[in-house]
Amino acid sequence: MSSIFVFDAYGTLFDVHAAISRFREQAGPDADRMSEIWRGKQLEYTWTLTLAGHYVEFWTLTERALDFALARVPSVDKALKPKLLEAYFKLDAFPDARAALRALKAKGCKTGILSNGSPKMLKGAVDAANIGGDLDAVLSVDVLKMFKPRPEVYRLVTDHYKCTAGDVTFVSSNRWDVMGAVSCGFRGIWVNRGKMPDEYLDFSPQKTLGDLSGLAQPQ
Ligand code: 2OP
Repeated sequence: MSSIFVFDAYGTLFDVHAAISRFREQAGPDADRMSEIWRGKQLEYTWTLTLAGHYVEFWTLTERALDFALARVPSVDKALKPKLLEAYFKLDAFPDARAALRALKAKGCKTGILSNGSPKMLKGAVDAANIGGDLDAVLSVDVLKMFKPRPEVYRLVTDHYKCTAGDVTFVSSNRWDVMGAVSCGFRGIWVNRGKMPDEYLDFSPQKTLGDLSGLAQPQ
């Protein structure tokens, strides 16, 4: 087992749909569709801006993506916007996240986050989930002003830990993020909570897990 485990944040440790879950009743029958569009647009903005050579921090993109999603799904009351953003700032961690981090730490592994999230929002989520003590590093793309899957971003990890890419296991529920990490030489673990079909077949993960619970077992 490699001794450095680095996690994607949003979608992997933190449940991006936890914000809508807190307001599902008020949001009505299209709540989940709105949340899917919100997440999809948030990511699309990171990719398109990075391709065009621009950078706008992730919190602003999260807000703009929510504006789009609420306009696209008018049945969801726009007045929920501030509540949804506040909930996104303090997202719930998945129930297995803390135990997985602790199990890795108990085995003497280093743990960290590499995320598109801006430092302030990452701190908000880490503090709300109370997992700061289980993490050795929280690395944000913000220092580089470009988003995943640019290779420069993944190199933040090897620079931080002063290690080679082969020393790092990168854990993400986003298959495109696993692709980015594997293409930089990391060992990839895909957390396929949604039972999605595989893709990016030239950049396969070392292992695919259904959730984070088996992460500390020998890979
Ligand atoms: C993250 O970097 C991509 O949302 C993902 O945390």
